[in-house]
Amino acid sequence: MDDLLIIKNLYKSFHKGKYILEDINISISSGQCFCLLGASGSGKSTLAKCILRLIPYEGYIYFNNIPINTIEDYPKHVSFIPQDPMSSINPNFKLIDAISEPIKIMSLAFNKNDIIKLIKDIGIKEELLDKKVKTLSGGERQRVAITRAIITKPKLIIADEPTSSVDAIHKNTISELFLKIKRNSTLFVITHDINFSKKICDKIGIMYKGKIVEIGDKANIFLNPLHPFTKELLDNTLNCQKEHV
Ligand SMILES: Nc1ncnc2c1ncn2[C@@H]1O[C@H](COP(=O)(O)OP(=O)(O)O)[C@@H](O)[C@H]1O
Ligand SMILES: [Mg+2]
Repeated sequence: MDDLLIIKNLYKSFHKGKYILEDINISISSGQCFCLLGASGSGKSTLAKCILRLIPYEGYIYFNNIPINTIEDYPKHVSFIPQDPMSSINPNFKLIDAISEPIKIMSLAFNKNDIIKLIKDIGIKEELLDKKVKTLSGGERQRVAITRAIITKPKLIIADEPTSSVDAIHKNTISELFLKIKRNSTLFVITHDINFSKKICDKIGIMYKGKIVEIGDKANIFLNPLHPFTKELLDNTLNCQKEHV
C-alpha cells in the first residue's frame, strides 16, 4: 500500500454530542494532490488541524502506515500553508529570517545559497531578503508562506485556502507554484475554488456539513458528480464564469 496519508473513521466534536466532523475516510497516495472542497463552516480547517496534530480527535490518522500520534519527528515531514500567510510569521522579521525560521527550529542544515535558489524558484526577488515581511505585498507574503512550508522538504504539505488572499492574476501563479511543489511533496489542499482545484488536483473530496459526501478522481467528480451538493458547487462555478464573460 503506497498511501502516504490515511484518515479512517475520524470524528471530531468540540462540545459533547455535537460532531463537527463525522466518519471521515480519506486516503492519499504518495505524490498525489488531494483537494478538499466544501462550503464555509463545513469542517475543512478543523480536519486540517487534526492532521497537523493541533487538536485531539476520535478515530485514526496514519502517515506512512504509522499512527501520527506515535511519530516523534512528525513536524519534519508535514508542513502547513495557513489561510492567512501572516498568521504564523512575525511581521517584523526580515524575509531571510522568516524563511529560515523553520529550518532553524528543526535544526536542519542551513545554506544561504540554497535559500536564494529556492526563493528564485518560487518567484521571490533576492533583493527582498533584507526587507521586513510587513512591507511585502499580499502575493509576496503568500510566496513567503509557501517557501516556509517547502524549505524543510516535507513529504506532506497541507494548505488551507491558499488562493483566498490573492487576486485573480496571482491565482494563476499560485496554481503553477503548486504544480511545482507537487513534484516533491504530496499535497492536501483545502479550497472552495473549483477552478484552482481543477488545475492542481488528482483526487477530490467534497465535504458537506462535516461529512465527506463524495470522493474520487478529479475526472470522475467533475464529469459525473453524484451528490446534489457537488452538482450545486459545479453549477455555481459555471454560472459565476458566465457572469464574468
Ligand atoms: N475551537 C472551536 N470550538 C468550537 N467550535 C469550533 C472550533 N473551531 C471550529 N469550530 C466550528 O466547527 C465548524 C467548522 O469550522 P471550520 O473547520 O473552520 O470550517 P471551514 O474551514 O470548512 O470553514 C464551524 O461550525 C465552527 O464554528
Ligand atoms: Mg476554513
